[in-house]
Amino acid sequence: MNIKENEQLQGCLEKVKEKNRRDAENGRIRYVYIQTFGCQQNEADGEKLRGMAEAMGYRYTSDAEQADLILLNTCAVREHAELKALSIIGNCKRLREKNPELIVGVCGCMTARQQRVDQLKKGYPYVTFTLEPASLHLLPLVLCRVMEEKRRRFLLGEDDGEAAEGVPVARTHKHRAYVSIMYGCNNFCTYCIVPYVRGRERSRESELVVAEVKELVEDGCRDITLLGQNVNSYKSDCDFAGLLEKLCALPGDFLLRFMTSHPKDVSDRLIEVMAKHPHRMAPHFHLPLQSGSDRILAAMNRRYTTEHYLGIVDRLRAAMPHVTLTSDIIVGFPGETEEDFAATLDMLRRVRFDMVYSFLYSPRSGTPAAEREEDFVPDDVKGERFSRLLALQDEIALEANRRYEGETLRVLTDSISRGDSHMYSGRTAAGKLVHFPATQDAIGQFVFVKIERADPYALHGAIVDA
Ligand code: SAH
Ligand code: SF4
Ligand code: F3S
Repeated sequence: MNIKENEQLQGCLEKVKEKNRRDAENGRIRYVYIQTFGCQQNEADGEKLRGMAEAMGYRYTSDAEQADLILLNTCAVREHAELKALSIIGNCKRLREKNPELIVGVCGCMTARQQRVDQLKKGYPYVTFTLEPASLHLLPLVLCRVMEEKRRRFLLGEDDGEAAEGVPVARTHKHRAYVSIMYGCNNFCTYCIVPYVRGRERSRESELVVAEVKELVEDGCRDITLLGQNVNSYKSDCDFAGLLEKLCALPGDFLLRFMTSHPKDVSDRLIEVMAKHPHRMAPHFHLPLQSGSDRILAAMNRRYTTEHYLGIVDRLRAAMPHVTLTSDIIVGFPGETEEDFAATLDMLRRVRFDMVYSFLYSPRSGTPAAEREEDFVPDDVKGERFSRLLALQDEIALEANRRYEGETLRVLTDSISRGDSHMYSGRTAAGKLVHFPATQDAIGQFVFVKIERADPYALHGAIVDA
């Protein structure tokens, strides 16, 4: 569905916009506040929520106290993410008492589960509506209804299953952007909630992806990340490697990257296309391993072995000697023994990842692994393994980063580094985080930074002439 062509949605959008225009005329500007949790997909959704809200005449604020519309874009991947979101939803009670006209919308993955929707309905009376990710584009419709009917709405399963096109996007950065190429996931890894909350895989038409990337580049975007839970299974009139070929053929000075790849689906063609376009394709591969034990990988329904994984790593490094590799690891999956965990550490030593995002296993109700209560690894054991993994990975990452000391790297500047107004940070083509002194005008520009010092998570240096 293209929402620009949908009369009902456009009608609702216009109605809310008209109301906000009248309020503004009467001196009451309406503000929207949006908070996003979770992954890049959710970040991209957050940009759409903001795009739609702005199209309806809301002005964006980073201060929740000022808002008339609060949109909380939640994540459900681990319990911690849900608890954090629930606590922030809880804060809206006080905000509503202060501003009785406040509309609170809970969006994102948490609201794709009946149980959570029921909980929000009953326990959080100041939540005005929920909107699951697949129905995100229905925001104007829901807002219009809650305003007209003055009642709460909890949508679930109202989408048509098709990827919505034409949703306005408010981009956070001009020089860096996310472009979703597919939605949903069919893999059903046994620990993971994503297929339940994001639905089945849907790929966007390649023509539309190409048009969006082209427009971004023409608008000055320098670094574009293609997004999908499993980009390798992209399928429209071409496969993922084919889509990359089309995008690599576009003119302009920009880099393309993508996430996430599933090891079972990495094709030789994909590696070939990346190697063939070194100035276009970022030399970075995020390849979640999850565990280094074949027994655990099977129990996770990952459908590859460590041997297969190592084969991909060899092929990637043979084709692109400077490629950086990053990964996700889950510690303490049900039934994980000390031996299984040792195999994970062993894989870290063998592959030598540049960076690992590690997570403590968190049971998600409704997933098969969460049923295996008798096999749960005790929290103290999980915690102890987690610390060992971090310590080892810090050593490996430090060594990997040290190899850049003394080198001059091209860096795309992003923002001020936290806490110091003279320090800026940016990323290299390979995705390395770099900190360096600069001024505001460097943001969005490529600069050359001579690396003086490395730590496990970042490089530190100073700008030099090209
Ligand atoms: N589609 C991507 C990312 C999914 S979520 C992929 O397949 O890699 C991001 C990461 O969260 C996963 O890679 C996994 O490491 C972690 N994760 C997912 N479910 C989890 C759970 N129940 N507990 C702990 N970590 C989890
Ligand atoms: Fe979750 Fe697995 Fe799908 Fe990734 S591939 S989103 S981990 S089910
Ligand atoms: Fe979280 Fe949903 Fe992403 S569960 S990790 S926001 S797909």
